[in-house]
Amino acid sequence: MNSITKLVEEKPWVGWVLFFTTMIVVFVLGLFAASIVERRTEALYTYRPATDISEWEPDSSKWGKYFPREYESYLKTKDMNFRSKYAGNVPIDSLAEDPRLVVLWAGYGFARDYSAPRGHHYAVTDVRNTLRTGAPMTPAEGPQPATCWTCKSPDVPRLMSTMGPAKFYASKWAALGPEVTHAIGCADCHDPKTMSLRISRPALIEAFSRKGKDIGKATHQEMRSLVCAQCHVEYYFQPQTSYLVFPWDSGTTVDDIERYYDSLNFSDWTHALSKAPMLKAQHPDWEVFALGIHAQRGLSCADCHMPYQSEGGVKYTSHHIQSPLKDVSTTCQVCHRESKEELMRNVFERQDKNFAIRIEAEDALVKAHFAAKKAWESGASNDEMAPVLKLIRHAQWRLDFAIAGHGSSFHAPLEVARILSTAVAKAQEARIHLTRILAAHGFNSEIEVPDISTKEKAQQVIGLDMPKLHEDKKKFLETVVPKWDAEAASR
Ligand code: HEC
Ligand code: HEC
Ligand code: HEC
Ligand code: HEC
Repeated sequence: MNSITKLVEEKPWVGWVLFFTTMIVVFVLGLFAASIVERRTEALYTYRPATDISEWEPDSSKWGKYFPREYESYLKTKDMNFRSKYAGNVPIDSLAEDPRLVVLWAGYGFARDYSAPRGHHYAVTDVRNTLRTGAPMTPAEGPQPATCWTCKSPDVPRLMSTMGPAKFYASKWAALGPEVTHAIGCADCHDPKTMSLRISRPALIEAFSRKGKDIGKATHQEMRSLVCAQCHVEYYFQPQTSYLVFPWDSGTTVDDIERYYDSLNFSDWTHALSKAPMLKAQHPDWEVFALGIHAQRGLSCADCHMPYQSEGGVKYTSHHIQSPLKDVSTTCQVCHRESKEELMRNVFERQDKNFAIRIEAEDALVKAHFAAKKAWESGASNDEMAPVLKLIRHAQWRLDFAIAGHGSSFHAPLEVARILSTAVAKAQEARIHLTRILAAHGFNSEIEVPDISTKEKAQQVIGLDMPKLHEDKKKFLETVVPKWDAEAASR
């Protein structure tokens, strides 16, 4: 028998003293541990109000003083060091990769210049540099509206807070050039008083309210996607006012939005070859993602594009928004046990299969545009052509909707395959109609498609004066842009 047991047997109160002492020690230790955890959590979610930051502060470095980890990771959107099979943070000249696109966009600015996206850091630079801005698209279209700035910069909500959205959209793109200088930043997604996520763009709030939904009631997990849906969605500019509208009143699928545009008789441009009234899809990432398994299992954009990081025991959200394939261990492997290689293979397999259908659709559409051109030349009438032009419009709308979201083939592979298959079907149906129209006008041979094997050749075929466009752009970048920057710096 040991001495403590003996002592307790002789003097029972000693047992109680021991019991209470142990309780107190455990309690104090518990308090101590809780306080450590609390400190950690504080460091983890520094929802410290940043009181000297004004509501629409566009300069992210000012926010960065309070949130150095988030800020440092945010700065990495400048990186250009990753290329996956179809995406990555390097600029990819999509027209050079696939010159069919030049023909598909004939008569529209995208035929001049179109690159796959890189990091948020470049949002302002790239919209200044593209051949789609700075000079009138076509004399009929006139200069670009300020609406083109909307998804590039936290200067946008800042300006809207004083001038109001309608006046902002009604301004010219070049007129606001000296004002819009900061690339996408903290103010686009956060309220500085609470650091909670906020919606800074009216178009998203308005689209919800037209459906009778209050975006203010969105859950936290929904907000982790909705902040992205301010920009990564399909949109259009209302004719005359250039007011930015999300075309979701009939729903958000490709078919719903097609019906919406048809009901308004809306078109972005008239195709230079076929004369079809065309629609240009923007980047319906949010709408298409919603139809995939990951959205259906409750994931949000941030789960893969803004993974948690750990630094010295502190957990924070990476603000290096990029392809999740750059670092599979912090993204996919948080939930999946498969190897990095297997997970990447899963992504590429879905992308490859959809890419193959995409090329079928593009080939059929290129031929349809040239056949329609021939039909007009052969004397086809408006009445004869109307059903064909509608098929071409719908086929290309679907193709574009499927491919303009650069992640869609992975986000919702089945939906993308479905959309692309309807694009192929409609384009082929247009070609069958055209064969009949052409025959009726005495043309029975194969339609010749000119050599469009490179971007340059394709641009020549559709009659673009590229040297002039490049020269105009150079002038714009050398004379106008420095003035904008000087004006911004002197503010
Ligand atoms: C204010 C508008 C805006 C918001 C908000 C926004 N984006 Fe973007 N995003 C853009 C623009 C514009 C680009 C293209 C930048 C370029 O290429 O110059 C882009 C590019 C990207 C890219 C490509 C990056 C690369 O390395 O290739 C990804 C991925 C992305 N965004 C994901 C997201 C996610 C996820 C969210 C929400 C957490 C989000 N974005 C919120 C406008 C926005
Ligand atoms: C494109 C939208 C977007 C931008 C731009 C953005 N954030 Fe965030 N931020 C998020 C999301 C999404 C989260 C995760 C929120 C959550 O789950 O609670 C987040 C979380 C945070 C948090 C909470 C702590 C953490 O790490 O999870 C802080 C602090 C923060 N961001 C600071 C910043 C700062 C500073 C900037 C500018 C340098 C910035 N954010 C820019 C979307 C954004
Ligand atoms: C937050 C958790 C989470 C993350 C992060 C995540 N997934 Fe998933 N993934 C899921 C869930 C849940 C499912 C549905 C599986 C089920 O319910 O049986 C799924 C399904 C899948 C499927 C099967 C889908 C199909 O088409 O049948 C693939 C492939 C997949 N994920 C790959 C990835 C890859 C690649 C990444 C990283 C880019 C990733 N996942 C990131 C949770 C996640
Ligand atoms: C389950 C993980 C997952 C979720 C959730 C997710 N994505 Fe993605 N996303 C990917 C993968 C994988 C790719 C393909 C990357 C590649 O090919 O390198 C991608 C690609 C992208 C791209 C193109 C990137 C580039 O470099 O061109 C954008 C933009 C994008 N996603 C935006 C979003 C938005 C917006 C949401 C929410 C509506 C979202 N993603 C939700 C996994 C995800």
